[in-house]
Amino acid sequence: MAKKALITGITGQDGAYLAKFLLDKGYKVFGTFRRSSTPNFWRLQATEVFEKVTLIPADMADMASLLEAITVSDPDEIYNLAAQSYVGASFDQPLLTSEIDGSGTTRILEIIRHLKKDIKLYQASTSELFGTVQETPQTEKTPFMPNSPYAVAKLAAFHNMRIYREAYNIFACNGILFNHESPLRGLDFVTRKITNSVARIKLGLQNELVLGNTSAKRDWGYAPEYVEAMWMMLQQDKPNDLVCATGETHSVLEFVNEAFSHVNLNPEDYVRTDEMLIRPKDVNLLLGDPTKLKESLGWKPRVTFKELVGIMVKADVERWERCLKGEIFPWDAPSFPHNMDIVKRHKKS
Ligand code: NAP
Ligand code: GDD
Repeated sequence: MAKKALITGITGQDGAYLAKFLLDKGYKVFGTFRRSSTPNFWRLQATEVFEKVTLIPADMADMASLLEAITVSDPDEIYNLAAQSYVGASFDQPLLTSEIDGSGTTRILEIIRHLKKDIKLYQASTSELFGTVQETPQTEKTPFMPNSPYAVAKLAAFHNMRIYREAYNIFACNGILFNHESPLRGLDFVTRKITNSVARIKLGLQNELVLGNTSAKRDWGYAPEYVEAMWMMLQQDKPNDLVCATGETHSVLEFVNEAFSHVNLNPEDYVRTDEMLIRPKDVNLLLGDPTKLKESLGWKPRVTFKELVGIMVKADVERWERCLKGEIFPWDAPSFPHNMDIVKRHKKS
């Protein structure tokens, strides 16, 4: 019989790629989504899985809907990807972030404990736990020093995963995920903000890119490869916590330069910084050591930094070219207020 997986946050970047990966492996895939006033299924359409997954409405803040989702799907594996995932927003909504990212995970653990079922649980934990880094590169043994309400909420989830594993024998794994990007990345995040802006600048739709802290360094990988590691972690004999990273770090400025080089433009003509975009407290350097994941499960990153930037710039240029030709297709950009010119163009056609 096909294995069953439940993905919380299936409408997000990782959710869409993981759904595709698991369907290709023969799983029956269920996913939770939040009801909203406008549909938010463009990533599931982009990965061509929308018609193949079973969607269940649920909110991480609502125990009843989570219980319903888990009962209805009766999964062998749960991938807990749902989160208020934007670090910057966690400074504006610290309590909500804690409720969704921290207590939300505890709700799932409690449901598994009460149902007494053999459900394996993967938690999308984060390199943000390292915050002000205590050593470089960061490994599974590096002490945590979180720098944002987001990271604190995820730290609570990390420890409850460990506690429920040790106290109740639940197969609970934390993937300590370093940043991973793709053309399906949300526009809030710096990589996609850059590639989307570079595409628009190249096509004459925008004339500047405004950024915050461009000296911050991140270990950026390619999202479709990171969802493979999520699955691998649940196929182990014993549950554990593993770092998932490339082992390379680059600054935001390097990302900017690489992105502009793909369209043969000089970033100095378009990029400026604005202090308003600098976070109350930032994480300056992340560099992960994925040795344990490589040695225990054979996972390794394949797409290089240069290739990743190229994939993202190419995808955004193609989207905007198609849009300028009058094509309307599911994708995130036109819903943004600063793109009203594009919205008007659609109305005319
Ligand atoms: P994402 O694109 O922002 O997706 C987040 C998902 O969570 C979306 O489906 C979102 O639904 C859902 N969600 C948000 N609030 C919710 C709530 N209250 N109840 C139910 N669902 C809710 O994030 P991602 O990049 O795919 O990341 C997946 C997970 O990995 C997140 O937990 C993130 O914190 C973690 N992580 C990501 C990275 C990375 O670099 N991408 C690195 C480390 C850890 P809507 O579509 O309705 O908003
Ligand atoms: N978003 C954003 N927008 N970030 C900017 C900007 C800007 O205009 N300018 C500079 N930055 C800097 C941020 O201050 C941060 O240092 C860095 O770019 C990366 O920011 P994000 O892309 O927003 O990602 P993040 O590293 O804060 O968080 C992501 O990775 C975490 C794992 O390390 C998210 O995916 C989190 O959910 C994830 O846990």
